[in-house]
Amino acid sequence: NDNYLANIKKKGALVMGTSPDYPPYEFLANQNGQNKIEGADIQLGQQIAKNMGVKLQVKSMGFDSLLVGLQTNKVDMVIAGLNKTPQRAKSVSFSNSYYRSGTGLIINKNDKNKIKSYHDLKNKSVGAQVGSVQYDSMKKLPDVTTKGMENANDLIMALKTNKIAAVAMDQSVAQAYANHNSGIMTISSGLHSGDSDNNIAFAKGADSLVNSANKTISNLQKNNQYTKNFIPAAINKMPDN
Ligand code: ARG
Repeated sequence: NDNYLANIKKKGALVMGTSPDYPPYEFLANQNGQNKIEGADIQLGQQIAKNMGVKLQVKSMGFDSLLVGLQTNKVDMVIAGLNKTPQRAKSVSFSNSYYRSGTGLIINKNDKNKIKSYHDLKNKSVGAQVGSVQYDSMKKLPDVTTKGMENANDLIMALKTNKIAAVAMDQSVAQAYANHNSGIMTISSGLHSGDSDNNIAFAKGADSLVNSANKTISNLQKNNQYTKNFIPAAINKMPDN
């Protein structure tokens, strides 16, 4: 029995940390001249806060600082298209899975005959977000130069300006970026090790929060809400560029 849930109820707010550079999970959308954080993960966070009877507060952070943010109490939970990995599970507690994703590659359309899977990345530079599972998978490939960047938007920019030959990121995010940027396309990475579950992270030992989130997740799963409603709603809100 821990005090985490009781403290959040006392505070009246649940602070969610995320890195809004990952559509359709989380991204910035312009609303009347103001940037607002939108996405399927935000809707999930709202549902969790609602079921706890508190307000959701969304805090934007760099992806690589999110889990540290939990450990230093800057945020109460992290929802960020985050995969549960044994390494991360050492320092934070994970909810059950709310979605599943694999790794995709984004390339320039001009290269589509040259790059068909990760086998064709030999002697090329590939971009990935610092701290992501995709960064680690790319690092493991022999003869591939991995270029780590903090922000996923910068990876897309680097690809479009030919500074890198491909970007490795979650398949659904790769698809969302490709749909909103002419000149780039996704291919399946061929990397099966990249497939895994998206889970919510809490401070290590915050079981009362994990249990509460798991209840919300299993309710949403009954009619496949995340996939059927949250993702399409997020895709509709994505900015064109
Ligand atoms: N799924 C990948 C991971 O867990 C990348 C997540 C990146 N998320 C983000 N909001 N930028 O490492």
